[in-house]
Amino acid sequence: MTAGTAKPQIDTSRPHPARVYDWLLGGKDNYRVDQEVGEQLPAMAKDAARQNREFMRRAAAWLADDGIDQFLDIGTGIPTQPNLHQIVQEVVPTARVVYTDNDPIVLRHAEALLISRPEGVTDYIQADVREPEAILDHARGVLDFDRPIALSLIALMHFISDDQDPYSIVRTLVDALPAGSYLVLSHAASDLYPEMAERVTAEYAKGGIRLGFRARAGVSRFFDGLDLVEPGLVTAPEWFKGTSAPEAEGSGIYAGVARVGG
Ligand SMILES: C[S@@+](CC[C@H](N)C(=O)[O-])C[C@H]1O[C@@H](n2cnc3c(N)ncnc32)[C@H](O)[C@@H]1O
Repeated sequence: MTAGTAKPQIDTSRPHPARVYDWLLGGKDNYRVDQEVGEQLPAMAKDAARQNREFMRRAAAWLADDGIDQFLDIGTGIPTQPNLHQIVQEVVPTARVVYTDNDPIVLRHAEALLISRPEGVTDYIQADVREPEAILDHARGVLDFDRPIALSLIALMHFISDDQDPYSIVRTLVDALPAGSYLVLSHAASDLYPEMAERVTAEYAKGGIRLGFRARAGVSRFFDGLDLVEPGLVTAPEWFKGTSAPEAEGSGIYAGVARVGG
């Protein structure tokens, strides 16, 4: 785990994305400032958080079933059961998972992410996705980059605005992966429920959090050059494999899984 010995400093004077999301999921690791943002959001925001998390579970289980046993998860969030490693190690006990987030509150709760099955490995890096090379350098010490890796960027890239080069960041990460790897990505949509998207963006902005929802074409661009697996780029509840169809419901989250060729 990459962390200093000092306790991470938690700023409770302003809201943080990881803590607002935790509140939306019904978690307890948030503060009054985060609750105040959450309470102003439309009811659909809670559905979106749940749908997003359920997508993560289905995609991770499918990848593990498919034989993927290495995961690099960036923008992990505050631990919420079941966490990614619990899902994949249930299928492949030897799975190795590297978690990354830039929020000190996630570092503070990282012990929950580090309770791996003895046969497997979990690790946590306190890092910013805008420094992909630093993340890759660390991950190379834990994961074997000569074998397939699933890179998950779940509900992360809408925090990275166009002026911060989001597509180059994802390209740098994906280019480091060998053929047979996967990109798992979900993203808030600007074009499915535009009024809701505007309201959510405005409420986060009041709290000083920049959110940049993207339309379908902008989300699809993250998958350029990769092979989207069925059912393609769809809403979070529409992404499922086999018979595990979730209840059909409206969603403002795009989700997709793509294979890295080569
Ligand atoms: C909405 S949460 C998603 C958590 C988890 N991936 C999930 O889908 O359940 C977004 C997470 O991304 C993290 N995050 C935001 N900007 C980041 C950045 N620049 N680098 C790394 N993590 C970031 C936040 O701290 C938060 O934990």
